[in-house]
Amino acid sequence: MEEQAIQKEEQAAKKVMLSGIQPSGALHLGNYLGPLQHWPQMIEDFDCYFFLADLHTITVRQDPAALRKQTMTLLASYIACGLDPEKCTLFIQSHVHQHAELGWVLNCYAMFGELSRMTQFKDKSAKNADNINGGLFTYPCLMAADILLYQPDFVPVGEDQRQHVELCRNIVQRFNGIYGDVFKMPEPYIQKVGARIMSLNAPESKMSKSQPEGCVFLLDRPEDIARKFKRAVTDSDTENCVRYDQAKKPGVANLIQIYAAATGRTFEDVEREFAGCGYGKFKPAVGEAVIETLRPIREETERLLKDKAYLEGVYRAGAEKASYVAEKTLRKVYKKVGFLQR
Ligand code: TRP
Repeated sequence: MEEQAIQKEEQAAKKVMLSGIQPSGALHLGNYLGPLQHWPQMIEDFDCYFFLADLHTITVRQDPAALRKQTMTLLASYIACGLDPEKCTLFIQSHVHQHAELGWVLNCYAMFGELSRMTQFKDKSAKNADNINGGLFTYPCLMAADILLYQPDFVPVGEDQRQHVELCRNIVQRFNGIYGDVFKMPEPYIQKVGARIMSLNAPESKMSKSQPEGCVFLLDRPEDIARKFKRAVTDSDTENCVRYDQAKKPGVANLIQIYAAATGRTFEDVEREFAGCGYGKFKPAVGEAVIETLRPIREETERLLKDKAYLEGVYRAGAEKASYVAEKTLRKVYKKVGFLQR
C-alpha cells in the first residue's frame, strides 16, 4: 500500500533536466532561435537546473573582468528569455563548491585513454597549442560531476557535447559497478532542433561570435541589426527571388529560415509573402522582424542589469537550492568511496 503511494508520487513528480552554458561569449540569434527559445516551455515540463559553467571557461584563458561581466549579462539574458528563476533552479557553477569536489572524485574514475579520445579536447588543444592544460583534459569529469550531482533524467545537449555525456554514462557504469546504485544514468536529450542559423555573411558556416559581422547578438542595437541584414550575403544567381533552396541558394534559405523562426511562419508562408519582391526588399524586412523579436529581450536584459540586487538575489537563492541537492549526492559519494565523516 505504502509502496503504491510512493510510486504515485514519483509519477507525479516532474522529470529532472539539467544543462550548463559557458559564460565565455555573448548570446546570439543562433542560440536564441535554436535551443533557447524552447527553454521557457521546458521549465514547465521538467524540474530544470540551469547553470553558468564558469569553472569550465578557465580551461581557456579569460580576462577576469570580462568573465565577471559576461556571467552577469548571461544571467540577466536568460531571465529575459523566459527562464523564470521562480520556476527553475538558476545558478552559477563556482557558487556550488560540490561541483569541484565531485569533479575531483570522478577524475579518479575516468581513464586517460577515454579522455584522450574526446574530440573537443583534440580540437581545443589544436587551437590553444600554447595552453594545453590539465583542466582542458579532465573537463569531461567536471561536466560529469555537474550532471550527476543532481541525478537528472535528461541532459539537453547539442551534437558537440554528446561525446561528453557518453563519457559521463561510462563513469556512472563504472562507479555504480563498484559501489552499487549511487548515480542515476542520465540520458542525452536531443533538443527540438529549432532553426540552425548560419552566418549572415558566410552562409556556409554556422552563425558564430567569432565572425561578428555575420552574427546578430541578442544585445545588438537595432541599427546594428539592420545594417547586418542589409549587408547579408544573398546568392550570386541572377534570379533575385525569395525561394527556399538550401543547396543552390544558401544565403536566401538562411534568411527565410530566420524570418520564419522569428515570426512563427512556415517557409511557404514566407515565399508567398515575398513573391515578386527582390532581395532588396526582403533583407531589411528580415532585419525588422529580428529587431522586433529581440527588442523585448534586450530591453529586459538591460533593465535587469541595472538591478544588481535582484540578480544577486537570484543567484544566491539558486546556489542555495542547488547546493542542498548537490550536497546530498556528494555525501553519499564520499561515504561510498571510504572518506571518514567529519
Ligand atoms: N560543456 C558544455 C559546453 O561547453 C557546458 C556544460 C558544462 C554542460 N557542464 C555541463 C552542459 C553539464 C550540460 C551539462 O557547452
